[in-house]
Parts: sequence; C-alpha cells; structure tokens
Amino acid sequence: MKRTKKVRIIKEEKVCLMGDAICVNGVTVTYGDVVALWQINLDISEGEYIGIAGPNASGKTTLFKTILGLIDPVEGQVRVYGKPIGNLRKKLLNKIAYVPQAHQIEQFFPAKVKDVVLMGRYGFNFLGSPLRSKDYQKMEEELKFVGMYKQRNRPIGHLSGGQQQKALIARALVRDPEILMLDEPTSNLDFKITKEITDLITQLHDERELTVLTINHNLDLLREDIDRLVVLNKTIVYDGPPYAEKVDEILYQTFF
Ligand SMILES: Nc1ncnc2c1ncn2[C@@H]1O[C@H](COP(=O)(O)OP(=O)(O)O)[C@@H](O)[C@H]1O
Ligand SMILES: [Mg+2]
Repeated sequence: MKRTKKVRIIKEEKVCLMGDAICVNGVTVTYGDVVALWQINLDISEGEYIGIAGPNASGKTTLFKTILGLIDPVEGQVRVYGKPIGNLRKKLLNKIAYVPQAHQIEQFFPAKVKDVVLMGRYGFNFLGSPLRSKDYQKMEEELKFVGMYKQRNRPIGHLSGGQQQKALIARALVRDPEILMLDEPTSNLDFKITKEITDLITQLHDERELTVLTINHNLDLLREDIDRLVVLNKTIVYDGPPYAEKVDEILYQTFF
C-alpha cells in the first residue's frame, strides 16, 4: 500500500499528493442559511487511521457525505485518489466503503443477515447481474470476520444494535474496500460491544492496511488506536497526534 508520492498541483495552487487517498480543499457546505462546514482542509494519506470527534451538529456527518460526493460544497472541492469525487469511475468509487450512522433496524425488516451483507455486492458487479459463488463466499468470509456467521440466517431486525452494526460492517467489507468510513459505529452501544467493534476496526486498519476514518464519541477508546485525531466544530479546531499536550484543553473547550 505504500506508494511513492508524486506531487501534483491542482486548482488554487493547493498541493495534493498522489498518495493522498482523500484531499479536502477549502470546503464550505451550507444547508440554506446554516453553515455546516467552513473552509475545511484535510489531506488523508493511504493507510492512515483517523478519528474524528466533535460535538453534536458540528458537521461530522456532513463532512463524510461531502467526501462521498453525496453533498456538493458551495466552495472548495474533494479529491479521492487525485480525482474530483464526481468524476470518479465506479472501480475507484467501489474502493470506498461507508457505514452510515446507525439506526436500530425495525424488528420486522424482511431481510436476513446474509441478505443484508450480500447487498454490499450489488452495484459492485455489473448492474442486474446475478450473484455468483464468489459473492456468497465473500459474504461468508466477512460474516466470519465480524463474528456473525452463526447468525447469518436470522432476520436482521431480531439482532441487538451491536450485532446489527457488525453485520453492516461486513456489508461494507464485501466490496474489498481500500478506504473505510464509519459514522459513529458505536453510538448507543454498551462498553463491551463498543470495545469489540473498535478492536475490529483497528484490526482492519492494521491487517488489511485500510485507510480508516471513524467518527466516534468514545474518545478514550478511540484515541488508544488512531494515528491522527481531527476535532471538528464546523471548522477544524485540531488535527494532529491524539495525545499531544494541548489536545485535552482543545477537547474541553470544544465540547463544554
Ligand atoms: N439535510 C439537512 N438539512 C438541513 N440542515 C441539515 C441537514 N443535515 C444536517 N443539517 C445541519 O447541519 C449541521 C451539521 O449536521 P451534521 O453534519 O449532521 O452534524 P454531526 O454529524 O456532527 O452531528 C447541523 O446544524 C444540522 O442541523
Ligand atoms: Mg452525525
């Protein structure tokens, strides 16, 4: 995964590196009168493990959606692997996996765990093409990885929040992503399952060399593993090592 970095100049004289997985350049996002993000600059190299923290409504989810090209910034741009996100070919787009902010899945949602995970393979293959044995193999492999293989035939709505979240991580993994983005993967979960899921994410970063961006409220747990902490409050108020001297003070001022 370690590639030689070649410098490439893009608009506004900002330097993006070829090895940059994601390059957020002067991004401002508004919803009507609400400014959700203000002049965000963020360069993420391949293989980094980044934790994003910020109070409610600080723009965390908006940042993810903008990186994914689901929201257009009013100013600035996002590049993924050096290309504007809007121009990214399907092959590159498939390298990004997104686990959205969790909602408890309705009890009677008519899908089994294995079907939900297989959904991750649709759109990965040619549209409308039937699933092949490789797809089923991948589903089984990733369900085993997250420890949910035994539950594969259970309706997803019957599982606990933590088990559902593991299944949604498996759904993200069946695409063999290079970049994994998780929006509060452990919100509303108890400590034990929060630790299990955080460990799984760290394992994915370490063993599969994924570039990981995770938004997390449990800062203590998050900070143990990540390489880099980004604190967001519409603007970036901190971006650096998770345990630098000034971090506690910045976190205190941002959250209280
Ligand atoms: N679809 C939307 N329409 C209008 N305002 C929105 C929308 N989504 C988010 N916002 C507003 O943008 C701000 C940032 O929201 P969000 O990115 O969800 O923050 P976070 O994920 O940090 O809680 C909030 O003030 C929120 O109310
Ligand atoms: Mg959010």
